[in-house]
Amino acid sequence: MRKLTYYVACSIDGFIGDPKGDASSMYQFVNEEFLDYLRTEYPETVSAEGRAALGMTDLEHRRFDTVVQGRGSYQVALDVNITSPYGHLREYVASRTLGESPDANVTLITEDVPGAIRKLKAEDGELGIWLCGGSQLAGELLDEIDELVIKTYPQVYGSGMPMFGADFAVTDFALESVRAFDNGVLVRTYSRKR
Ligand SMILES: NC(=O)c1ccc[n+]([C@@H]2O[C@H](COP(=O)([O-])OP(=O)(O)OC[C@H]3O[C@@H](n4cnc5c(N)ncnc54)[C@H](OP(=O)(O)O)[C@@H]3O)[C@@H](O)[C@H]2O)c1
Repeated sequence: MRKLTYYVACSIDGFIGDPKGDASSMYQFVNEEFLDYLRTEYPETVSAEGRAALGMTDLEHRRFDTVVQGRGSYQVALDVNITSPYGHLREYVASRTLGESPDANVTLITEDVPGAIRKLKAEDGELGIWLCGGSQLAGELLDEIDELVIKTYPQVYGSGMPMFGADFAVTDFALESVRAFDNGVLVRTYSRKR
């Protein structure tokens, strides 16, 4: 069974962006130490454009071969005329409104998103599925999430877009590892307790 991992950047108080989802205040923390970590541990989570700019295109995938996004998250790329932001992965986008996929590498999921994810999880393969976000999709897929990798940047937002757009319910996770960076960034990995 392949894992669904919500790998996401957030503020100390658990927001993945400002009220509209913009997380650009966090970019300043992506320094050489953090980039080395990404190169070693999560190279496939850097966008195709970023990989090209950083000389990372030849790096092998470490954790994921598939990415799932909501249309809100995908729209950030569409807005700058990028139709396949993670072309080195299989890309799935949940949307009821896009109609037709804008890119041959992008498969739309138009209904029963949890069911589509369960089918992906049931496929054979060593590598897992990256749930990129955003908030609404993560809330809908909370029951399917097997692992959380939370990159916490040392900023408080006060309010903003929550990590999960979901109703109140307690879900238990077990802490697997913590990596602290000199600039105050923390990456915590949790596995779901089933
Ligand atoms: N900090 C981070 O690491 C991070 C990561 C990812 C994203 N983000 C931010 O998150 C923001 C987007 O989050 P969001 O919550 O607004 O949107 P989202 O979760 O990315 O996308 C929501 C959209 O997904 C589609 N969708 C959701 N559930 C569906 C279902 N059951 N069936 C079919 N389609 C479904 C719908 O698209 P249609 O309206 O087309 O039907 C819905 O409007 C962006 O601003 C992005 O920058 C931050």
